[in-house]
Amino acid sequence: MNKKWWKESVVYQVYWRSFYDTDGDGYGDLEGVIEKLDYIKELGVDIIWLNPCYESPDFDNGYDISDYYGIMDKAGDMATWERLLNEVHKRGMKLIMDLVVNHTSNQHPWFVESSSSKDNPKRDWYIWKDPKNGKEPNNWRSYFTPSVWEYDQKTDQYYMHSFAVEQPDLNWENVEVRKAIYDMMHFWLKKGIDGFRLDVINLLAKLKGFPDVENPMNINYLGNNEGIHDYLQEMHQEVFRHYDIMTVGEIPFVTPEDGLLYVGEDRDELHTLFHFEVADDMPRWDMKRFKEIQTRWYEGLNGKGTNSQFLNNHDHTRQVTRYGNDNEYRVESAKLLATMIHTLPGIPYIYQGEEIGMTGVRFDSIEDYKDIAMKNKYKEEVEKGRDPQEVFESLLMLTRDNSRTPIQWDDSPQAGFTTGTPWINVNPNYKEINVKQALSDPKSVFYYYKKLIELRKNNELMIYGNYKDLSFDEESLYVYTRSHEGKIWLVILNHANHKSEFILPEQFNDHEKALIISNYEDVREQDSLKKVILRPHEARIYQF
Ligand code: GLC
Repeated sequence: MNKKWWKESVVYQVYWRSFYDTDGDGYGDLEGVIEKLDYIKELGVDIIWLNPCYESPDFDNGYDISDYYGIMDKAGDMATWERLLNEVHKRGMKLIMDLVVNHTSNQHPWFVESSSSKDNPKRDWYIWKDPKNGKEPNNWRSYFTPSVWEYDQKTDQYYMHSFAVEQPDLNWENVEVRKAIYDMMHFWLKKGIDGFRLDVINLLAKLKGFPDVENPMNINYLGNNEGIHDYLQEMHQEVFRHYDIMTVGEIPFVTPEDGLLYVGEDRDELHTLFHFEVADDMPRWDMKRFKEIQTRWYEGLNGKGTNSQFLNNHDHTRQVTRYGNDNEYRVESAKLLATMIHTLPGIPYIYQGEEIGMTGVRFDSIEDYKDIAMKNKYKEEVEKGRDPQEVFESLLMLTRDNSRTPIQWDDSPQAGFTTGTPWINVNPNYKEINVKQALSDPKSVFYYYKKLIELRKNNELMIYGNYKDLSFDEESLYVYTRSHEGKIWLVILNHANHKSEFILPEQFNDHEKALIISNYEDVREQDSLKKVILRPHEARIYQF
């Protein structure tokens, strides 16, 4: 496997609107990210992924861009953004920008023109279709609404939107669209950024002929369609290959075989991807399934392409709540999940607040929630006649707002996030869980992350090592090795609220061992490992 700086990096995701507010408007801002850069640097991460901060009417928190060349007021302005880039680089870190090119805002001038008349030169920049028998052109469902089609009275046609009505899809078949996007990418790359996180990038090509589908609820027909690899190879030729950058694609609905077509090192498309076999398709912790996914992806990509490891981000409920224990064993569980993510093959991602073990949230009413996906779904279901409270309850566990509450900096009002009224309420548990507390406690989740990241810097095995699962049938234990250049690490995880017995696999019996890290304080290197009763959420790594 070729060595590359981005493979060796740890990425920290900054959802700036919930990070730190410096002007009291209730939204985090770029100035706030600058102020807290030393905090991020202290963790030891290499790359910051910044969620979209371009001009946007903000229906979908910045994923509806109305000007690719400007900065949204809430975030700041271009001068502040430039200072941020500079300050990130000064600290030896890199910055990758989140970029949305599957769709724009319906307020983008391109769409305003496109929708103005059928013969406008930009008509073909978006996807317009005639009604079929007076109705939608086909039965496709969008992520956020019952149909991907929105009717435009003025021109008596429908336009396509894979997400909200306010997010019309660009027509990638149009050469001018592609050229405009590539030019814009050069604009940002020439400013010196270090890469892109490419939003739903495998949705660019649409299913040929726009046919009705058999099961519209399973929306995987929106992605991975014929032509997608031509677009990405062209993007690589026109843009990416001219810079030393990292590209990570958000790529739902893929198996490792499909994934390799996007990130195979001989393909000249993207460097790495987020697949969603865990975050989208595994609602609660499922040990056997998780192991099966890890092995299959490892075998599929090994030596040929690079995976990513993450359990949460701004679209997915915080990992300690969804996949761990956010109660009695919150600290142990947060550390166990971190141990896993940082030792499985692939680039580890940390979503802001994860490093202090922040949890999901439960507000009392739908009014407290801001997520357009949740709001639209709520409306759709209630309009069908379902009981509003029941609908509300059913959406709580997975609403994206679980991970969007402000960073809890300290135990002062609004968790020290803002002096104003936050755009979304802070999680009431901020008095116990906050950065100030974490930084003052050497045993905190924060310092455990810091140690894991440091280990990665000094052990190539965590990056390039082979992976082998030794625990395939176990429900609670996850035991695997990473091995590289004669060294073996044994990772032992008891992912359960109860104790579990661990028996050392025979192959290790006569070997000397060294304890690399553990999430319970009292584990001693000299303790025998032949047969051990592991405590709830106990995690250890040994070197042999
Ligand atoms: C991606 C983003 C998500 C956004 C969607 C539409 O999935 O991560 O936040 O809503 O794309 O752009």
